[in-house]
Amino acid sequence: MTHKKIRFMLNQQVVETTLPPGMVALDFIRQQQRLTGTKESCREGECGSCSVLLGHPRAEGVEYKAVASCLLPLGELDGKHMVTIEGLNGEKLTPVQQALVDHGGVQCGYCTPGFVISLTDYFLGAGAYDPVEALAALDGNICRCTGYVSIRRCIDDLCRRFAPLLDTGKPRVPQLIEWGMLPAYFLDIPDQIKSLLPSAPKAIRQIESESLIVAGTTDLMIQVPGKLLRGPLEFVSGMDQLTGITEEHNQVILGAAVTMEEFKISPLLRRLFPGHDEYMKRVASRIIRNRATLAGNIVNASPIADVTIFLLPLQTRLLLVSENSQRQVPLERFYKAYKEMDLQAGEILQTITFPKPSPTGLFNFEKVARRKYLDIAACNSAIYLEVRDRMITRVGISAGGVAPIPLLLKATTQFLEGKPIEGKTIQTAAGIMQEEIAPISDVRGSADYKRLLLRQLFYAHFLVLFPDFIKAEELL
Ligand SMILES: Cc1cc2nc3c(=O)[nH]c(=O)nc-3n(C[C@H](O)[C@H](O)[C@H](O)COP(=O)(O)OP(=O)(O)OC[C@H]3O[C@@H](n4cnc5c(N)ncnc54)[C@H](O)[C@@H]3O)c2cc1C
Ligand code: FES
Ligand code: FES
Repeated sequence: MTHKKIRFMLNQQVVETTLPPGMVALDFIRQQQRLTGTKESCREGECGSCSVLLGHPRAEGVEYKAVASCLLPLGELDGKHMVTIEGLNGEKLTPVQQALVDHGGVQCGYCTPGFVISLTDYFLGAGAYDPVEALAALDGNICRCTGYVSIRRCIDDLCRRFAPLLDTGKPRVPQLIEWGMLPAYFLDIPDQIKSLLPSAPKAIRQIESESLIVAGTTDLMIQVPGKLLRGPLEFVSGMDQLTGITEEHNQVILGAAVTMEEFKISPLLRRLFPGHDEYMKRVASRIIRNRATLAGNIVNASPIADVTIFLLPLQTRLLLVSENSQRQVPLERFYKAYKEMDLQAGEILQTITFPKPSPTGLFNFEKVARRKYLDIAACNSAIYLEVRDRMITRVGISAGGVAPIPLLLKATTQFLEGKPIEGKTIQTAAGIMQEEIAPISDVRGSADYKRLLLRQLFYAHFLVLFPDFIKAEELL
C-alpha cells in the first residue's frame, strides 16, 4: 500500500517520506535517519529519554513543544519542524548542556538528551525563568543515576544566569540563538516550513467513517499501535474548528483538540478554578500534556480519566458532528458501559462546553495514585458546589475508578441539595455514595480499598472547601 507523502523539517533538512503515517517517529529518527542521540527506553511516554522538540507553524513564527517521540506518529510531522538533540548541537556545548556537565548532571548520559530537550523547551516557552517552574517542566524526564540534586543545581544556575537577560517583549528564538541555546539555522525555519505546509486545513465534514481518529496518540500508540500502522488515519491536529478555549454567552467552550497543557495554562480556566494549575500538575507530565487532548481523554473512556472526572460535575455537553448531522450530548450520558459510548462511526467530537461557574461557586478536584506525580489515578473525584447561608443550593460530584465508566454521583447529589453544610449531612451522603458505586479489585487496589479511598476523597472535598465549618474529627 502506498501512503501519502509526508514532508517536514528534521533539524536543518527537509525530509520526504511515504512510510506509514502511523509509524513511530522515534523509530524513524533512529532506524531510518540513524540519529541515535534520541534514546529509546520505556516506549510508553514514561521516561522522557526520547524527547524531541516539535515545532508548529503559527502566524507569528514557529511554536516549539517538547514531546515524547515514542508516542508520536510520523503523519503528525507533516508541515512541521522536528528537532532532535543533534539539531541543537553546534560547535560547542549549549549553555544547557554545559550546565549539566558543570554540575554533575550527566553520569551514564542515557537520559541527558531528553533533559536537554525539555530544558530548552522551557527556556523557549516560559514567561519568566523560575527554578521551581523549570523543575516542573522536567516532570516527564527520569534519571536513574544522578539522584536529581545535580540536575537541580544546573537548573538553578541556568535560571539565575538567564532570567535577567530575558526580554519578554521580543521573539524568543533569536534570544536563545544569541545565548547559544539554539543554532542560528532556527531563524530560517519559519520560511522553510511555509513551503511544506499541507494544503488547506481539513474540514470536519470530509472525515471518512472508517478512519481512525488520531489526536495526541498518548492512548492510541500504547493501546493499538498496529491499527495506527495499518490506518486509514484522520489527524485532527490540522482542524481549526477543534482548537481554542473561549468564553461566549456565559459558556466556556473548549476545542476538542485542546491539549492538556493548553488546558492547564489557560488564563480563563485558572481564573474560574483557583486550584486549576495544581490539579493539572497531577495529570501526566509536560511531554505528555503537550500532546494529549481533551477529546482523547473523553473518548478513550477510561473510568479514571482525569479531565473527564474534572468536567463531569460542571454540566458539560459534547458537540458531536459528522458529514450529515450535528448533536449535543451531556457528558454524563455519553458513557453507556465500559468503553461503550454514544458515538457513531464518522462522528467527531468538536467542542466541549460547560456553563461558566457562578462567581460564588466552589470547585475541588482530588486524585490518589500510587505515585503523587506521573501516574494514573486509583481513584479520583471532582465537586462543584453552590452554597447560600450554609445551605447547598446546587451540587455535582464525579467519581473515577469505582465503576465501569466515569461516574456522576446522582443519588448522593440529590440527597445533598437543600441540606446544610455539616458533618452529619456529609457522613450520611458518604453512605449513599457507597450504594452508587461498584468498584472492582485490580492492580490499583482492592474493591474495598477503592470504596475507602473514594470516601476519603469525598470528605477531602468538604475539608478543603469549608475549613471553617467542617473539622476532620466530625467525619471519623
Ligand atoms: C505516560 C502517560 C501518562 C498519562 N497520565 C495520565 C493521567 O495522569 N491522567 C489521565 O487522565 N490520562 C493520562 N494518560 C492518558 C492519556 O494521555 C489521556 O487519556 C489523553 O487525554 C488522551 O488524549 P490523546 O489526544 O492522546 O488521545 P488519542 O490517543 O489520540 O485518542 C484516544 C481516543 O480518542 C479518540 N479521539 C481523539 N480525538 C477525538 C475527537 N476529536 N473525536 C472523536 N474521537 C476522538 C481516538 O480515536 C481514540 O479512540 C497518560 C498517558 C501516558 C502515555
Ligand atoms: S522511550 Fe520513554 S518516554 Fe519515550
Ligand atoms: S545520567 Fe544515567 S539515567 Fe540519567
